[in-house]
This record gives sequence, C-alpha cells and structure tokens, in this order.
Amino acid sequence: MYVAFAPLQGYTDAVYRRAHWECVGGVDEYYTPFVRIEKGEVRKKDLRDTDPAADEGVPTVPQVIARDGDEFARLCDALQKQGWRRIDLNMGCPFPMQVRTGRGSGLLQHPEHVEEILREMQKRPEVTFSVKMRLGQECEEEGLRVMPIINEMPLLHVTLHPRLGKQQYKGVADREAFMRFMEVFRHPMVYNGDVWGVESGKWHPEGELNTLEKKENAVKKGERLKGVMIGRGLLTQPWMLSDKEPLEVIRNMHAIIYRHATEHLCGDSQILSRLHAFWEYLDIDHKAKKAIMKATTLPRYREAVAIVTL
Ligand SMILES: Cc1cc2nc3c(=O)[nH]c(=O)nc-3n(C[C@H](O)[C@H](O)[C@H](O)COP(=O)(O)O)c2cc1C
Repeated sequence: MYVAFAPLQGYTDAVYRRAHWECVGGVDEYYTPFVRIEKGEVRKKDLRDTDPAADEGVPTVPQVIARDGDEFARLCDALQKQGWRRIDLNMGCPFPMQVRTGRGSGLLQHPEHVEEILREMQKRPEVTFSVKMRLGQECEEEGLRVMPIINEMPLLHVTLHPRLGKQQYKGVADREAFMRFMEVFRHPMVYNGDVWGVESGKWHPEGELNTLEKKENAVKKGERLKGVMIGRGLLTQPWMLSDKEPLEVIRNMHAIIYRHATEHLCGDSQILSRLHAFWEYLDIDHKAKKAIMKATTLPRYREAVAIVTL
C-alpha cells in the first residue's frame, strides 16, 4: 500500500522530512507544506523549502495552493524551474485566510477556477499532478460539483480528507463520505484523516485499510483505494510504520533537527521555536515535554531533552 506523510505547515519542513526519511523511512512520498503567492510573488521562503538540493534523495512532492489558473501557472513555473516534475494541488486547507480568498477548500466553491486549473495542467504533460482535497467548504455537494472537472484532470491520485473546510479539524473524519466519493471519482484515491499508531488506542493504518478495503470490495472497486496519507499520527509517533525503537527514533531525528537549527538559525528564541515544533505532537512523557516547552534557553532545553522517556 502507498503511504504518504501529509504536509503540515510549521512542522514538516525539509529538515524534518529528511530526518524522518533517514531515521525511519517506510514512507513512499513526503508532501511539502504549500507554496503560495504573497503580495503578487511566489513566496521566497516557500521556495527555499522546496529547494531540490535540500530534498535530495528524499521522495518529496511539492504542494501549491492557488486561487485560479493564473496563480496555479505561476506556482508551477516556479517549481518546474527548480526542476520538479511532480506537483500536488491543495484544495483542502481550511484556514479562513486561504478560504476567504478562494484558495484551499475555498477553491471547491469556484468550479470556474478549477476549470482554469484543469486547462493549465493539460498544458504541462511533463508534470505528474495530484490533488489533495476535502469534501467541500460548506457542504459535500461542493466537492461533488467539481468532481467531473477533477475527473478530467490528468492525476496520479486524489487524496481526500473527508471533513468539510468549515469543520477545520473538529469532529471525526467521515469514512462513509470517503466511500461515497470513491464511488464517483475515477482516479485512484488516497485516504487521509485521523489515522493514528497502534499504541495510541485510536486508529491504525492497517486497520484503516482493512475496513476501507472490505467496504470497497463490496462496491467492487478493489483497485481504487491506493493507500493512506498520515499527518498528525506520524508527528505523534514518527516510528509508527517501522519496528524501530521509539526513543532511538526520537534521539536520531532530534540530533539532525537540532544540528540544523543551531547551525542555521540565530539566537536561542528562534532556535527554540523550531525545536519546540519537533516536540509539540510527540508522544513522550508529560513531565519531560513540559520542561522542554518551558525552556527559554538552550542549556535548559538540553537538560530537559536529556530526561525524555516515553
Ligand atoms: C498544523 C497543520 C498544518 C497543515 N498544513 C497543511 C499544508 O500545508 N497543506 C495541506 O495540504 N494540508 C495541511 N494540513 C492538513 C494535513 O495535511 C492533514 O490533511 C490533516 O492533518 C488530516 O490528516 P491527519 O488526521 O492524519 O493529521 C495541516 C494540518 C495541520 C494540523
């Protein structure tokens, strides 16, 4: 089965992706947080994160967020200039600032802009595209309304996070809705949403796939479920897809992220803010996490990290 590491802005930057790939692996593709247009320009900071040199050897897919065909074309141009021939389109970001401007899950409310993007994709046969979407922004009908256009897109697969944009991350991912969409989308489908590690007592990808596969067989679309994309579950337990020792994974990944932060960032507060993001979701003992998050100097931080247990 195909497994993807979801893009998580503020967490899965190039250094994190490399650290996970080198220390754990077991993931087919890592998606970058979205590259966007800001003040009429493709954001330089985003392009630094998609610099192919930083991602060399790591199976990476850059993602863009666009309002219409014109923005999409400019973002593709910038990524293609960097050498990318694989691009994912974000049609699922629920952040109000993106939605209000017709981007992310807001794009699902504008079939005319989705059409423009389809035409831009058709102009670029050298690029392999995929789409990551939600059910809709306000209602499921929005996703179903753009479905015929998405079906016409030349896509490797569609990743579907079965929540509405207006829900943000509230409630649970609607697996029944995922099944309904899988019946009408012609592309291979990747399931995304609330997949967690075994020990968490929540959902596990194997179980996830089994249930979906069982249902899928019932609708005779056995080959259509391509795999899963996992986000917060992997941030919480980066080792969840391997048989590696959790504490060792944490120490090894941390060593890479720590070295990069101290070599590239300036001042304790900048360095600590990057390092805190690494620990934020991690499944470790409560006391150590509290001490790490409270540390305002690097020596204090290092003391706290030294006592981490699970
Ligand atoms: C802090 C945060 C940042 C995110 N950034 C992105 C992003 O840049 N692009 C994107 O497509 N999805 C983004 N997402 C959504 C995740 O990729 C994923 O779809 C969502 O977390 C549901 O999957 P999960 O339950 O496995 O985490 C973000 C989610 C969170 C919580």
